[in-house]
Amino acid sequence: MPPHDRKADRYSHGHHESVLRSHLWRTAENSAAFLLPHLSDDARLLDIGCGPGNISADLATVLAKGSVVAIDRAEEIIDRATQSFPAKDYPNLSFAIGDTYALEYPDHSFDVVYAHQVLQHLSDPIAALKEMRRVLASDGLLAVRDTDYAAFVWWPQDPRLTQWMEIYHRITQANGANADAGRQLRSWVLQAGYREVTASSSTWTYADDDSVAWWGDLWSKRALKSEFAIQALSQGFATHDDLNDISEAFLDWSRAKDASFIVVHGEILARP
Ligand SMILES: C[S@@+](CC[C@H](N)C(=O)[O-])C[C@H]1O[C@@H](n2cnc3c(N)ncnc32)[C@H](O)[C@@H]1O
Repeated sequence: MPPHDRKADRYSHGHHESVLRSHLWRTAENSAAFLLPHLSDDARLLDIGCGPGNISADLATVLAKGSVVAIDRAEEIIDRATQSFPAKDYPNLSFAIGDTYALEYPDHSFDVVYAHQVLQHLSDPIAALKEMRRVLASDGLLAVRDTDYAAFVWWPQDPRLTQWMEIYHRITQANGANADAGRQLRSWVLQAGYREVTASSSTWTYADDDSVAWWGDLWSKRALKSEFAIQALSQGFATHDDLNDISEAFLDWSRAKDASFIVVHGEILARP
C-alpha cells in the first residue's frame, strides 16, 4: 500500500481565536475523565493533536513522576503552547511539531497515547491508529475521544442552526474527514488491530447562563471568522448572508432563557 498522503488532510476548524476559546476551556477532568483512573503517575504519555496544550499541561501535573510529550501538526499552535506552558513550570512536559501519521518516536516508547478530538479530522483514522499502536508499549493504553456532530442536540430549534450543521458536515466531507467520528471509534480501533477495546461515551452540556452565553458568543464568531467560514465560502457551501444568519442564530440561541446544547462524545480505551 502506498504511504498515506498526509499533506492532503485539511483541518476543518483552524486556530482562530474563536476556536481556541473553546479548546482553552478544556481540562483533563472534562476531556480525559475516561482515562484518568487508569493512569499511573510514572507513565510516559504522548498527547497527539494537542492544540493549545492546556489538557497536556493538566496531564503533566497528574503524571508527577512521568512525562508528557505533546505534538501537533500546526507550528503556530505548538509555538503558543510552548509559551503558555514553559519547561521551567512544567519540567515533565514538552511540545513538538509532529504528524500523527508519521510519529518521530521509536517503537513501544510510550505507556499511553491520548488523542482528543483528532481522529474526526483525519482522512485515514485507521492509519493514524496503527501508527499510534506502533509507539505504544506492549502493555500500553490507547485513549481516544471524539465528538459526533450528528448526535449533537440543542434547544430551541432554529432552521439556521440546522443549516450550520449541514454546512459543517459538507466541509468535513470535502476534507475527507468524518464529523460523526464518535460512533465509529470502536470500529476504527478494532480495524487498526487493538485488543481489550472498551467503549464509553460522555457529554459536555451547555445549559446554564454562563456556558450558554460563552458557547453562543464563540460560535457566532466562528461562523464569521474561523476556517468554518473560510472553507464554507471557498467551497461554495454558504454565502456571506448564510454565515451572517448562522452567526445571528447562535446569538439568538444564547439569548433564549431555556437554551441548552449537548455535545456527545465517543471514547475508547484499548490495548495495542
Ligand atoms: C480539535 S483540535 C483538538 C486539540 C486538543 N486535543 C483539544 O482537545 O483541545 C485538533 C488538533 O489536531 C491537530 N491535527 C490535525 N491533523 C493532525 C495530524 N495529522 N497530526 C497531528 N496533529 C493534527 C490540529 O492542528 C488541531 O490542533
